[in-house]
Formats: sequence, C-alpha cells, structure tokens
Amino acid sequence: MPEAPAMHIDKGLDNTIIGESRKSFIDGQAGVLEYVGIDIDELARNSTFEEVVFLLWNDRLPTSSELESFEAELRLEYPLSQGVIEMIKGIPHEASPMHVLRTVVSGLALEDEECNDQSFESERRKAVRVLSKTPAIIAAFDRCRRGLEIVDPDPNLNIATNFLWMLNGEVPGEASARAIDVCLILHADHGINASTFAAMVTIATQSDMYSALTSAVGTLRGPLHGGANERVMNMLQSIGDLDDVEPFVMDSLKNKTKIMGFGHRVYKALDPRAKYLKTFAERIAEETGNTDLYVLSTRIQDIMDREVGAKGIYPNVDFYSATTYFSLGLAIDLFTPVFAMSRNAGWAAHSLEQHQDNRLIRPRCQYTGDHAVEYVPINER
Ligand code: ACO
Repeated sequence: MPEAPAMHIDKGLDNTIIGESRKSFIDGQAGVLEYVGIDIDELARNSTFEEVVFLLWNDRLPTSSELESFEAELRLEYPLSQGVIEMIKGIPHEASPMHVLRTVVSGLALEDEECNDQSFESERRKAVRVLSKTPAIIAAFDRCRRGLEIVDPDPNLNIATNFLWMLNGEVPGEASARAIDVCLILHADHGINASTFAAMVTIATQSDMYSALTSAVGTLRGPLHGGANERVMNMLQSIGDLDDVEPFVMDSLKNKTKIMGFGHRVYKALDPRAKYLKTFAERIAEETGNTDLYVLSTRIQDIMDREVGAKGIYPNVDFYSATTYFSLGLAIDLFTPVFAMSRNAGWAAHSLEQHQDNRLIRPRCQYTGDHAVEYVPINER
C-alpha cells in the first residue's frame, strides 16, 4: 500500500495554493492587481469591460476585428427568451435580487439544448450566454418589482450602457455608462476568491458551466464577500451624521464588529481597486451632488487608518463602489448583482482554465469525533 502523504490543517485555505493560473496576479503586500499581466489601473483607464472579458478568456488582448466579433457574439445573446421572462415575472417582488439571479442563471440551463455537452467550446458558449443575459435578468426583475414594463436589450449598446438602458428605460449619459463600465472592469477577476473557487469546484466534477456559475452567484452574496457592498451602504445610511462617525467606528472596533468594506484576506496594503474607486466615487459624487456620503466615507477611512491601518486593514473594493453605485441611482440591493454581472468574466475564465487541465478538487478535514460508537436502535435511545 502506498504511504499516505503528510497532511496539515489550513483552515480557510489561507496558505494553500490550489494550482496554476494565468488569469490574475495579486501582490497583497504591495497592493498590486494585474489581469493577465496588465495593471488594473491601466485597464480601468484605457479598456472596456468587453475587452477585459476577451483578455481573461484568451490570455491576451484582442485585435480590433477580434473585439468587434466578440462584441457581436455577446450582443446576439443579450435577449431573454419568453420562458425566462415569464419565470422572472412569476417571482415574488420582495425576493432578494441575488436569490433571483442565482435561480434564473440556473434556469437558463433548462432551455439550452447543449446543456449536457461538456466540450470546451460548448462550456465557453454557455459562459457567453450567462454573461450576456445577466444584465437583462437583473434589470427585468427590478422593473417587474417596480411595476414597470420590461425593457428589451438594445444590441447597439455595450454591456454597461445597455444595463442602464434596460434598468431605467432611457439611454444613460456617457459619464454614467462609463462609470458602470469601469466598475465592471475593476470587479471582473480576483484570483481564487471564494465564489471563483466555488465555480471551479463545481466544474471540476465535470458538471457544467451553468452549475458552476450558479454556485458562484450563491457564494458571492455572503457579506464576507460580494454582499459587503450593500452592507457598506446600509452602514453609511445608519450613521447618518458626520459627527457620529467617530463614536460609531470606535464602538465597532471595541465590540469587535467588522466595519463593512474594510479588510481583505489577501491585501494587507490598500486594495488597488479601492484606490481607483475612491477617486471615481469623489468625481461622481460631485457630478451628481451626492457628496455627503462620500465625505462620510472618507471620515470612516481616516479613523480606520489611524486605528487599524498598522494592522493592514484598509478599504477593499466594496467600500467606495457602494457610494459610486448609490450616486448612480442604483437600488442598494442591486449592488451585489452588478458585482456578479462583472465577476461572471472571472468565474468563467477560471472555470474554463480548470476545464482544460482538470483534477477533481477534493480536500479533506481532520476528523475529531469518536470511533467505534455503538449503534443504538431508535426505540432504545
Ligand atoms: N473591521 C474591523 N476589524 C477588522 C475588519 C473590519 N472590516 N476586517 C478584519 N478586521 C480585524 C479582525 O477583527 C481581526 O482582528 P484581531 O486579530 O484583533 O482579532 C483581524 O482584523 C483579522 O480579521 P479576520 O476576519 O480574521 O481576517 P480574514 O482574512 O478572515 O477576513 C474579511 C477578511 C472576511 C474580508 C474581513 O476583513 C471582513 O469581514 N471584512 C468586512 C467584510 C467585507 O468588507 N468583505 C468584502 C471583502 S472583499 C470581497 O470579497 C470582494
């Protein structure tokens, strides 16, 4: 019998490298994030979400004609079928949009004829479908619950502009559309975060892309992960006044209550996405006249820097994205779905990478229970 390899416990997998990837690089000490070797800041300044998706799925930037045909492929998949629209209309209006998204992404599989085709090309096409339809799912549900007609996607618009068009029924201004586009770029991938890992575990069983992306949506919604952006906004609204910030933060720290939007498992320096989003949040706040929340946020950051900066607790991506989305008029419970809209790119990129070089992901745990316990028949217990 072969000798059992040495094992060690790594609760939370903080110190476990689960494999190799070409998608994103994070230096948590220096505060660096690169997609396929390109600095996030550079992409946020110069790129578009569609180009970033191509980059993550192909490990290189597209030529103009490649980008054009990729955009055309995505746009063909924008519309929802009548069946999916009826599914959305049947959902109770009080439902949380993340539960809705998880359910409808899963539902897309039901009408896909190649649902059980496990080839790489088929899984890629499924990823295109989910990524392209997610904005329409979010917008359709939001309009239904507001008692408004669903707005059909416009194939002439990019993903960011189209999302705002379907949500509000009017073509957004360039600044708002670009703001969403940049947020989509900044959230598109982030190594083996919890939701990406969930997607990889699922695809690694030779399940399918719909199942992988459904697992990921469910994992993203937790407040320790993508759900934090909504909690940030609830927190800002509950503080209300600038003078209340200091006691709020100090009490939270004293009681060991986490300040939402701060801290990160990997970053012990400022999250580079937060750095970019802070500037962005300030600009949009000024443009839209929503400066109160921005000022409140910076006050929280100042106090947190003073109190726990030395411990490596800084704002993460969720902190300033919350104020940005709020200034853009998005309902608070749509913040995490917008994150999912973007992270579809990374979930699919890592799932496709896993698919190409697969090994079942199956860790173990240290059993701490009893042994040789007697089975007692039910009527004798
Ligand atoms: N506010 C106050 N203190 C914090 C915070 C915070 N947001 N985050 C970490 N700490 C403190 C902890 O109290 C702990 O202190 P101690 O050593 O004195 O006990 C120390 O920092 C380590 O914290 P852990 O929770 O063990 O660190 P971990 O790596 O598990 O946590 C996490 C990372 C979950 C993101 C955490 O920082 C947190 O809960 N933040 C708030 C929620 C949040 O913003 N989540 C979004 C993360 S980004 C994303 O997923 C997209």
